[in-house]
Amino acid sequence: MTPSQWPSWLPLREQLAPMSPYGAPQIDLPVRLNTNENPYSLHNEVTASIASEIEKVLTDLNRYPDRDAVELRSALAQYINQQSGTHFEKDSIWAANGSNEILQSLFLAIGGDALGFLPSYSMHPLIAKITNSTWHDGQRKPDFTLDIESATNHIKEIKPALTFITTPNNPTGTALTLAEISDIARAVGSVGGILVVDEAYAEFSEVPSAVTLIEKFPQIVVVRTMSKAFSFAGARVGYLIAHPAVINAMLLVRLPYHLSALTQAAARAALSQSEHLLKNVSTIRQSRDEVARQLVNLGLSVVPSQANFLLFTGFKRPASEIWRELVDQGILIRDIGISGYLRVTIGTPTENAQFITALTQSIAK
Ligand SMILES: Cc1ncc(COP(=O)(O)O)c(C=O)c1O
Repeated sequence: MTPSQWPSWLPLREQLAPMSPYGAPQIDLPVRLNTNENPYSLHNEVTASIASEIEKVLTDLNRYPDRDAVELRSALAQYINQQSGTHFEKDSIWAANGSNEILQSLFLAIGGDALGFLPSYSMHPLIAKITNSTWHDGQRKPDFTLDIESATNHIKEIKPALTFITTPNNPTGTALTLAEISDIARAVGSVGGILVVDEAYAEFSEVPSAVTLIEKFPQIVVVRTMSKAFSFAGARVGYLIAHPAVINAMLLVRLPYHLSALTQAAARAALSQSEHLLKNVSTIRQSRDEVARQLVNLGLSVVPSQANFLLFTGFKRPASEIWRELVDQGILIRDIGISGYLRVTIGTPTENAQFITALTQSIAK
């Protein structure tokens, strides 16, 4: 709706009136490679374990769930410690309905001025807006990497309460080294801010996680999700790893009983099977590198990616035309609004082959 289309009796907040609801097109096509989901559904053993955990909580659904999701947070701490050799306990972990809810809680608790480096995850500026924070756009270099000197200068100038970096970055796939993140954290620390490291795609990356920096830099908070590597997007489980003081701040802004007993049980069961679930991660990485080679063989340029998607360019026609022709062939990828570029999520080998075949036809026109 445009501002003039909202009914006059609805006292909507002024800054929301020109906005449209967020959302990638959910077109029901045979090959959906547009929202960076994991293409592999859960293995039978995992679904059996989830069903059995859920069954155990069913008889208690008359009661509210554990408000603080203690068992789940302990299981998440254990997972992170296994992955990154850290020693976190549940007091350093918060869990919510997807990492989007974690991001919203950070804005609710801290708010104020926020800075991010675009193009990046479009929900960061959007949540800033809906929570009444002021968003500042920092930029990336033309190759989508981050100019650390310019980024730290921006931080010192704007003095944001929240600075966002996404690594690997969505939609570019580019990742930051721990040395680069440390430089940014120092600048953020010097202005008394918090550095939010959004690691939604961390498991697909070879670069170590920024959770290993939290002990040294308490101003770093790391946002993770089970939506991608864990094939768990439908369950809605995101989490935060941070200094316990930040977790206490999350307790101030969370809604009571925000995470249902069903979600907590499902997530605990999935985490107990994490090795099983993460087996697909290496397959996806290999497929990513294979699809990148195929795109290059088609004469296209691909941004080096550490995630489960690729941003590519080099078309002789507008990217939106190519996107539409792929849709007509039953393949949904993402036009993320960067002129000349399209983004494709890595699917199963069959889906990837269908995508490459359709794209080959389209760019030959
Ligand atoms: C960088 C980034 N952060 C966070 C999210 C949100 O994930 P979820 O709310 O499913 O945990 C996404 C989803 O695509 C993402 O790309």
